Amino acid sequence: MLQTGIPWSALLERTGRTPWRSAIRDLLSVTERPDVISLAGGLPAPELFPVAGLRAAFAAALRDDAAGALQYGPTPGLRPLRELVAARLDWRGIRCEAGDVLITTGSQQALDLVGRALAGTGMRVLVESPSYVGALTALAAQDVSFVSCPIDQRGLRVDALRDLLASGDGPPPALLYSVPTFQNPTGVTMALDRRHEVLGCAGEFGLPLVEDDPYSELRYEGEPVPALRALPGGGDVVHVGTFSKVLSPGLRLGYVVAPRPVLDRLVLFKQGADLHTDSLAQAAVVRFCRENDLDAHVRGLCAAYRERRDAMLAALSDLMPAGATWTRPEGGMFVWVTLPEGADAVRLLAAAIERRVAFVPGTAFHADGTGGRSLRLNFTSRPPDAIREGVARLAAALDDCLPSPFAGEG
Ligand SMILES: Cc1ncc(COP(=O)(O)O)c(C=O)c1O
Repeated sequence: MLQTGIPWSALLERTGRTPWRSAIRDLLSVTERPDVISLAGGLPAPELFPVAGLRAAFAAALRDDAAGALQYGPTPGLRPLRELVAARLDWRGIRCEAGDVLITTGSQQALDLVGRALAGTGMRVLVESPSYVGALTALAAQDVSFVSCPIDQRGLRVDALRDLLASGDGPPPALLYSVPTFQNPTGVTMALDRRHEVLGCAGEFGLPLVEDDPYSELRYEGEPVPALRALPGGGDVVHVGTFSKVLSPGLRLGYVVAPRPVLDRLVLFKQGADLHTDSLAQAAVVRFCRENDLDAHVRGLCAAYRERRDAMLAALSDLMPAGATWTRPEGGMFVWVTLPEGADAVRLLAAAIERRVAFVPGTAFHADGTGGRSLRLNFTSRPPDAIREGVARLAAALDDCLPSPFAGEG
């Protein structure tokens, strides 16, 4: 390696800002081994990508308007894509127009921009406990301090939220970040009455709400629950969405709908970050949606993912030891497992990798370092037989780790 003479480590420390390290990224090197069944990542099934439709859409975008697709474009995004997003959201009860929509480079960028716009050094940010690790990473970049708010089977515990807000400890929080529908990592959905209560709290305490909604279209059973932004009093909610889970994450197309003063600020921060999102991908998705029925594609995904979810739930019922519990998500991509008393998910991971299966330990999703007895399993990226085999390997690894009930006898 070339020596430069510049003390890089010391210089990098000087900023006082150390990026949040995602346990999931660190895991990827292991999960890429072909002999490992990875239930770790949050990946869509690659064999379900609409490759032919996307190939045709990219070709058409280049054929019909190469200059538009290859040139610099407007920071808020291509007008036809903003219109398309506004129309899709409108069908779901979120009243907005193209001017309310900012196209982002994945919804991950939307979270980063929202953090820049609404949070700053030392400010308190309310997050669900557990929460999406990528949001913790994005928001931590603003040097915030996280305040964890518990969730249960019906989503965010609004009683705890209200206590936190009413306690008067510290300055008012910068925002509440929530994934209300098929949450990453638990799969839990916030019940309708809780959504009304959260909006009530936000109104009462002047709390900005950030609703991250990548999964709500992936529903396998039950009735849809309206987005926070679609409910009465939801007009101030910052709503973040993505094409990653319904089309392809490699496209890196997300979006945010926000009140105009917030949106204007996000546009300015985006200008500094990347000028605009990939024009070719934007143009291609517009073409794709004109020539194909995206809703029909999503219905196909739901049919396949329902089968995979059912395979995982059945395997867990058949194979997990007494004392383990897990969520039963009506959609999304994840099941959250709580291990029996005495088990530790990080230690279990080492044993699991020996047995060629991977998952993400619960600690990765907790801003406060708790969650050691829980883990996240993904059920969308592998077919049902691999899911069953993966859960069998996990159960065997757990058996290796748990103290034997007969230990100390004879
Ligand atoms: C809750 C949540 N938000 C945001 C993202 C980021 O998605 P993308 O940047 O691909 O749109 C993910 C990805 O897994 C997620 O689970």
